Amino acid sequence: MTTPAHPTATPAPPSLGVAAIGYAFMGKAHSNAWRNVASFFDVPAFEQKVLVGRDATAVAEAATKYGWAEAATDWREVINRDDIHIIDICAPGWMHAEIAIAALEAGKHVLVEKPLANTLAEAELMTAAAAKARARGVQSMIGFNYRRVPALALARELIAEGRLGTVRHVRAAYLQDWLADDQSPMTWRLRKETAGSGALGDIASHAIDQVLYLLGDQVTEVTGRLHTFVPQRPGGKAAGDGLEDVTVDDAAWATLSLASGAIASVEVSRVATGQKNSLKLEIYGDRGTILFDLENLNELGFLDATAPVREQGFRRILVNEPEHPYLEAWWPQGHIIGWEHTFTHQVRDFLLAVRDQTPPSPSFEEGLNVQYILNAVEESAAAKSALIQLPGAAPETSPTEGA
Ligand SMILES: NC(=O)c1ccc[n+]([C@@H]2O[C@H](COP(=O)([O-])OP(=O)(O)OC[C@H]3O[C@@H](n4cnc5c(N)ncnc54)[C@H](O)[C@@H]3O)[C@@H](O)[C@H]2O)c1
Repeated sequence: MTTPAHPTATPAPPSLGVAAIGYAFMGKAHSNAWRNVASFFDVPAFEQKVLVGRDATAVAEAATKYGWAEAATDWREVINRDDIHIIDICAPGWMHAEIAIAALEAGKHVLVEKPLANTLAEAELMTAAAAKARARGVQSMIGFNYRRVPALALARELIAEGRLGTVRHVRAAYLQDWLADDQSPMTWRLRKETAGSGALGDIASHAIDQVLYLLGDQVTEVTGRLHTFVPQRPGGKAAGDGLEDVTVDDAAWATLSLASGAIASVEVSRVATGQKNSLKLEIYGDRGTILFDLENLNELGFLDATAPVREQGFRRILVNEPEHPYLEAWWPQGHIIGWEHTFTHQVRDFLLAVRDQTPPSPSFEEGLNVQYILNAVEESAAAKSALIQLPGAAPETSPTEGA
């Protein structure tokens, strides 16, 4: 006799109906992933059923272009449809909690973009809803897509295998310049009530998640600093034709103490002139070092400090072999992949978790963990960079990796 993976899970439908909410930046990136994933990976059958937005004409156009069967403007109606089993939330952070909780309560599997939510209170409610839903076989995952860069998945493996020895410190910098121009207009991303925070929640969330993911470690203490270099910007509705106050940070700095004794520095900015989308990670151990640069995401720098000193030096690993994570499914070796592939890998891993009833990673607990760290950075910044202690954090789980 076989035991079902989950005693109360409803039988899997012949084809999973998917709905995505939001059709702009992430809506497009996720749609591309849904559209391509089954061409490369063995995933359970699914259908791109509905794309949801606010403007009926625009969302209908996007649905046709991105391969969705239908368009809709009311996400509440969509999550209650019997033919929808997965909700992919690509809407701004202020909507994550409301949509995710409603979807989980309706028994739908949820993939939500980062950061988990705009506030700690919302993130805690979402995590509680996810735990309750999990007990009914309903899955949830947060979209920290950089976990699905093959080079970073390989870096995690090398670190876990002890190839760096004891990790002493990490440098994580995520720099962009799309707000460097002080005439760049207001958007939802520059208002605290819609974005929660600025560069901190937007891109430090990715950098912090990487530190946790790569090291499989937990943060115990935090210091932080936030700064807004351009305090007012044009074009906000609230200000008419005038200037509106920017209520979030342009840049943020943090140090993170890890349970292992390692220390990470995190530096993020959206006003770093000339830096377009530069995520750089450096991990220094007593037996070796790893370097990663998102602008060369197929490569990993690795220095093996156990080699004879006269032969030592950084080697460039082209992470493009079939034995590297996820890459067996793609092109012959050396035929490099790009940023968009990380979303395809993310959808692949989520679908397998839904099919196999295995815990998807990063879970909402892991998203909440990042949220506690972001909150501690804000707390520290408000207290002249005082050292903030973090209570016990959620254990790190491994994603379903590789093809
Ligand atoms: N993983 C990444 O690398 C990455 C990159 C950018 C953004 N994000 C995250 O993705 C999320 C969305 O960001 P974005 O850049 O795509 O934003 P965006 O402004 O480009 O798009 C937001 C979308 O949400 C839709 N929306 C807003 N209110 C809605 C409503 N009531 N009903 C239905 N749809 C609604 C909008 O119509 C739009 O399509 C955010 O959480 C952001 O932090 C992640």
